[in-house]
Amino acid sequence: MYSIQNDSIHLGYVAILPNMKQRILVLGSTGNVGKPLVQALTDAGETVVAASRNSAVARLDYSDPSTFAPVLEGVDRVFIVSPPGHYAADQLLAPFLEEAFKQPRKFVLLSADGVQFNDEAALRKVELKLEASGHRYVFLRPNWFMDNFHTFWLAPIQAAGIIPVPAGEAKSAFIDARDIAASAFAALTSDRFDNQAFSLSGPEALTYKEAAAILSRHAGRKIEYQHVEDQAFIASLIQAGMPRDYSEFLTSLFGFVRQGYASTVTDSVKTLTGKEPISLEEYASRNAGFFLP
Ligand SMILES: NC(=O)c1ccc[n+]([C@@H]2O[C@H](COP(=O)([O-])OP(=O)(O)OC[C@H]3O[C@@H](n4cnc5c(N)ncnc54)[C@H](OP(=O)(O)O)[C@@H]3O)[C@@H](O)[C@H]2O)c1
Repeated sequence: MYSIQNDSIHLGYVAILPNMKQRILVLGSTGNVGKPLVQALTDAGETVVAASRNSAVARLDYSDPSTFAPVLEGVDRVFIVSPPGHYAADQLLAPFLEEAFKQPRKFVLLSADGVQFNDEAALRKVELKLEASGHRYVFLRPNWFMDNFHTFWLAPIQAAGIIPVPAGEAKSAFIDARDIAASAFAALTSDRFDNQAFSLSGPEALTYKEAAAILSRHAGRKIEYQHVEDQAFIASLIQAGMPRDYSEFLTSLFGFVRQGYASTVTDSVKTLTGKEPISLEEYASRNAGFFLP
């Protein structure tokens, strides 16, 4: 695919001198993970192409192949985010990956913990495609985001001081999206983690009841966890505007939570970033303003 001539590597018509910094394409750049990642890379002096459907600088829509080639120009590393709400991530991402695979590149995929146990899971299918491609990759498999409390679950918290999800009494090792971004930064800017997968978690596993107590303390108001049954939860997601297939998929994931599969605390954030992960206390303190009526 490429050849070495006169100390430079020729990739088609792009010549890359050894150690010359290339561009990093960050997909989902306006999202929970993409935004702090773009900031960290920019602060570190990397050349970043921050892309999404609504990006003013680099418009990329997975559903519009005409947007792929312009943002991939001169890019040697790609951070991939599959947007939530899309049940079939593998199908959505396939045309983009086909284009991106035309040049040697490294891919850091925002995947999800648990997919490694199910080759039929959409994000696992994306992982398998990257593994088979021969390109370098890093898979980041985070636990449930702390950030869900101020995004997905925010409306009932603000309106009624409740977190109505079907999690039972099980614990989850919630992670702050900033730690996922910091892990992605490490995976993109170092070769040490290439061709490895990391299950990312926060520093401790908590029940939703315990999490609600922490949010309450920092918000200065009563916030309670309320277990809801699957069907009621699906109905509430659909009412909030989520597609039915994704609502059912998300609800099925809570089945794994109830069985304790989300409770594993890992040291991957420390391995990747050199720092301890952010606690829910710290997250709640920073985001307390969200949880007010
Ligand atoms: N939330 C959790 O607890 C959790 C746990 C484990 C794994 N994950 C995984 O994390 C990912 C979500 O990450 P996130 O929270 O950072 O996402 P997010 O905040 O919802 O951001 C999604 C990003 O994707 C872009 N986007 C949406 N549709 C697009 C399209 N058709 N083409 C190109 N870009 C598009 C959005 O920008 P525009 O609207 O401008 O396009 C936005 O930048 C999902 O794959 C999810 O499975 C989440």
